[in-house]
Amino acid sequence: MSMKLRRLPRAATAGLVAAAALTAAAHSAEAADTLGSAAAGQGRYFGTAVAASHLGEADYTATLDREFSSVTPENEMKWDATEPSRGTFTFTSADRIVDHAQSRGMDVRGHTLVWHSQLPSWVSSLGASGLRTAMKDHINGLMGHYKGEIHSWDVVNEAFQDGGSGARRSSPFQDKLGDGFIEEAFRTARAADPAAKLCYNDYNTDGVNAKSDAVYTMVKDFKSRGVPIDCVGFQSHFNSNSPVPSDYRQNLQRFADLGVDVQITELDIEGSGSAQAADYRKVVEACLAVDRCTGMTVWGVTDKYSWRSGGTPLLFDGNYQEKPAYDAVLSALGGSDGPGDPGDPGDPGDATVTCTATYTRTADWNSGYNGQVTITAGDEPVSAWTVTVTLPAQQSVSSLWNGTPTWSGNVMTVRPSWNGTLAAGASTGFGFTAAKNGSDAAPTLGTCTAS
Ligand code: XIL
Repeated sequence: MSMKLRRLPRAATAGLVAAAALTAAAHSAEAADTLGSAAAGQGRYFGTAVAASHLGEADYTATLDREFSSVTPENEMKWDATEPSRGTFTFTSADRIVDHAQSRGMDVRGHTLVWHSQLPSWVSSLGASGLRTAMKDHINGLMGHYKGEIHSWDVVNEAFQDGGSGARRSSPFQDKLGDGFIEEAFRTARAADPAAKLCYNDYNTDGVNAKSDAVYTMVKDFKSRGVPIDCVGFQSHFNSNSPVPSDYRQNLQRFADLGVDVQITELDIEGSGSAQAADYRKVVEACLAVDRCTGMTVWGVTDKYSWRSGGTPLLFDGNYQEKPAYDAVLSALGGSDGPGDPGDPGDPGDATVTCTATYTRTADWNSGYNGQVTITAGDEPVSAWTVTVTLPAQQSVSSLWNGTPTWSGNVMTVRPSWNGTLAAGASTGFGFTAAKNGSDAAPTLGTCTAS
């Protein structure tokens, strides 16, 4: 097998980087809090899922590096990515994420060792004894490669069925090895990396229900028999069909009371605005209310790369601007968003400056009309704007005020005269008088651009 052995001193170096970063943040009085620093103030980590393919995008890594203290590879540590054929391990993409995280002093969550999904077909086609060996080899391969470098591993993911039965989900592992596969996976994992916290991770287990009851029963049994388990992960993918449960905190607490840590592992909440913000706040408050809730991970940095991008479920929009949900999470963590915090609306230099333009005819007579174009700044202040107006071919403009036109055929490009500077959301405009010359049609506006 082509396993690369990682040098252990890397982990020690990463720890030093982390300590240095924390000291720098603590000593900079005017620095705004970030999710990671605010969560650290509460003794928690605040993480995100990361895709290796986006690490080359400057805004992506800037947001990641600034805000988060833990990362989970979104797909790169899954079985299909790491052992696509038996015994051949490929760690290139996962290593990129781990190296990036360590060089910035971030922790890494391992996701995931044994799961029915994103599983190569060679695994599903094995018989029971081959499958048992393959499962143990896979755990040893992954955990050995990253030994000492992962704070928590999702050892087994999604082994229970949805719905009322509390039964195990059918999977190659369940069907061929029976209920005992989970215990075997955890025992193998403990031996492979004794320093890592070993987690069971699932979805629709966030509130008290038949599925979470079944997981609860398993964890209780593991604890009573000494099967090594350290934490339970609650994925927490929420939307209108699956809202934040009212007994979320209570459910986290009952697991914690069994003697395991709890972690929110894949948080995303579809929606927008204040409703989404309020839901995020509930989740953070629930975690903070449970001593053994050691950290939270959101399932992605920006809405545009979310696995549920249509639901805009994350804390940063597609332009890496902080959403109301971000502010709610930061304030629930006890942090404050200082002036000039990168990503704030109104902070020049790190945001997309936009404007919109609308047209109305303000006066009309037989041979001519007056038109007015209103320019409105987006979420950022504007220092200059440009809008094009295409006139019907016969028409001609005899005068224009509060703007500076240049012409190309019947297209006029208008820039500010005195009125280029706009506060975020503020409006200005220009007017003009046109001769109809036989055409009463309205001009059409091009896109407003701003800087
Ligand atoms: C998702 C990833 O976000 C997607 O990019 C991928 O196509 C499918 O898997 N539960 C889990 C995660 O444990 O691994 C899943 O991640 C989301 C649901």
